[in-house]
Amino acid sequence: MQTKTRIFVIDGYRSVPKDLLTALSRIYAVSGYMDGGEALDAMHQAPPALVIMDEQTLLRKGGKILSSKRASTQLKWVPFIIIGNTPDGVLFSAESESATDCYLQRPFHYNRLFEQISSSLSQSVERDWSELPTRERRILTGTVDEFKKISRAIGEGRPLNIEAAKESCQPLADCVSDSQYQGVLSNVKNHHNYTYVHSMRVATYLSVFGHAIGVRGDDLLILSAGGLLHDVGKVATPQSVLDKAGKLDEGEWLVMKQHAEQSGVILDSTAGVNQGMRIIAEQHHEKLDGSGYPLGLKAPQLSELARMAAIVDIFGALTDRRSYKPAFSADKAFSILEDMSSTIDQYLVHTFREVVESG
Ligand SMILES: [Fe+2]
Ligand SMILES: [Fe+2]
Repeated sequence: MQTKTRIFVIDGYRSVPKDLLTALSRIYAVSGYMDGGEALDAMHQAPPALVIMDEQTLLRKGGKILSSKRASTQLKWVPFIIIGNTPDGVLFSAESESATDCYLQRPFHYNRLFEQISSSLSQSVERDWSELPTRERRILTGTVDEFKKISRAIGEGRPLNIEAAKESCQPLADCVSDSQYQGVLSNVKNHHNYTYVHSMRVATYLSVFGHAIGVRGDDLLILSAGGLLHDVGKVATPQSVLDKAGKLDEGEWLVMKQHAEQSGVILDSTAGVNQGMRIIAEQHHEKLDGSGYPLGLKAPQLSELARMAAIVDIFGALTDRRSYKPAFSADKAFSILEDMSSTIDQYLVHTFREVVESG
């Protein structure tokens, strides 16, 4: 099953390094073009999700591609990232007036490009959300805006605003109470900030799970907001590790695992954090036999909430679509969870399976 997002690279002078193209191809289905005219023909056949274009190619072999796409209702929202050497993208600015396009000056760290791709693709998805029914639109736009604020605050070393995070999750908690959450789950999947998608799916499933076993009111909101915040430590994890296709090497795995401890550090410096949120963020990778991280807690030390968070986190990751793997079915995800009897609470897995299958 093809799960990769299609992007074009228009580079008539082979200015994009081979190793960057290889890195892009691990995550995206990349098609290469030598000039703007050739690429424009292909775009009219089947528009890609995004285009990366070399500035010199735009100037000398561009074939007015930016103005042509701007004039096309089919293509005008396709975001372009122009890569060039001029300090302010003079050539690019002369060609583009579109808010969907941006300029990246060499030299740049590859992560900078990956972040820009993810951000440009996500803007397209968020624009599509404006067509959704009011309730779903409110949940998705409210939480994604809050998630961006949270990411910015962490990047700038500022404390998080827990009340604002809870407020953004209130419509989600309300919709879970009314069993109207399927639209949220299916639409959030299209977003390209994987940590946001995963966090929202965990927030939704954890709230659904909690609601089914009798959690109500502010406690239910703690599950929604705790789910949204559970991987906040990943804001510091490099995109190349988060999006890597295939197995992480030992060093990358160590970097990835740091996020759980980091989530705890971030919440420790945040006023108003409830104990339930802290457990969800700090203990969702702990296992009953002590093989989990960051603390290697064992069964007697793991509360029902920590066990629920671990189940929902694994279920969410298995049923997520990633650039390098299709989404597993709920059935397959549960059979994997049911094989984890020494590490995951099987009574709660059984309960959660009933909840998901009846939803
Ligand atoms: Fe995590
Ligand atoms: Fe997670």
